[in-house]
Amino acid sequence: MSKSTQTTDDSIDAAADAGTDPASPSTTAAGETEEQVQESWRDYAFEGEPKLSVSDLDVFYGDDHALDGVSMEIPENSVTALIGPSGCGKSTFLRCLNRMNDRIRVARVDGSVRLDGEEIYDDDTDLVSLRKRIGMVFQQPNPFPKSIRDNVSYGPRKHGDLDTGLLARLLGRDDTEEEAELVERALRQAALWEEVSGRLDDNALGLSGGQQQRLCIARALTTDPDVLLMDEPASALDPVATAKIEDLIDDLREQYTVVVVTHNMQQAARISDQTAVFLTGGELVEYGATDQVFEDPKSQRVEDYISGKFG
Ligand SMILES: Nc1ncnc2c1ncn2[C@@H]1O[C@H](COP(=O)(O)OP(=O)(O)O)[C@@H](O)[C@H]1O
Ligand SMILES: [Mg+2]
Repeated sequence: MSKSTQTTDDSIDAAADAGTDPASPSTTAAGETEEQVQESWRDYAFEGEPKLSVSDLDVFYGDDHALDGVSMEIPENSVTALIGPSGCGKSTFLRCLNRMNDRIRVARVDGSVRLDGEEIYDDDTDLVSLRKRIGMVFQQPNPFPKSIRDNVSYGPRKHGDLDTGLLARLLGRDDTEEEAELVERALRQAALWEEVSGRLDDNALGLSGGQQQRLCIARALTTDPDVLLMDEPASALDPVATAKIEDLIDDLREQYTVVVVTHNMQQAARISDQTAVFLTGGELVEYGATDQVFEDPKSQRVEDYISGKFG
């Protein structure tokens, strides 16, 4: 085989892999190869039924198309990382999973999200119970200006699951003991109990940033959710606090299905079982086992992104 034939064969193979026409290997100004996203790059096979099943999800903010036909299935009791450059729709996608986008007036969501096979976008979905089953933690820790204890028990009290105080005592339905148990359970699960058990009545705003974030995680765990959504939960924290959050996420996967947005690729590689890569235009380009996505991405654009060529 002559040298020139070899080169041609190689470039045809490469182009076929990238899903592009070998006659027109075009690149954008950012140096990313334009490629047709292929189904096979996104079909991540796993055992068991999916916990969350997303099909043909589109989100528009007014005329802005923020998510473009995203489909993916998320396995139970595992950590799924969502990565991609800023503005590619990661937060938008995460918010779709517990219908937080309903709160954004200009947002329009099309498509389907099923939790344990049940459509969450049905008109008669009870949003309060949905968000009890699918909790959310944000980038900036947002504890209430109340005691550590009250931060954890606030939700259950508000939902009428806990009743404490003078009136409750007078009416003979004092849940102080249940409250203490719940607070301890949630703080232990959030790996914060050891640090705060002696000062539950202190104001939560006196905690460090990392402690505040774990408190917010404890708060999200009080409803005993199935799924925990986290939007860049460690990006406002120092390395030590970040490591604690990462260890915690590692423990949470045993009981919960965790979906975490991170712009830190090393973090995604460290903590997740599977990784979904979104790229500009709100496209899910590649989704697979984390090792595969990082070590052997199928998409050229994903490879460029991961190797730091753009993004
Ligand atoms: N509340 C909103 N109103 C209007 N546009 C929004 C809103 N939230 C996000 N967007 C737009 O949707 C796109 C995706 O944003 P986002 O989901 O926040 O991306 P990421 O989390 O990946 O940075 C961006 O173009 C952003 O400007
Ligand atoms: Mg975001």
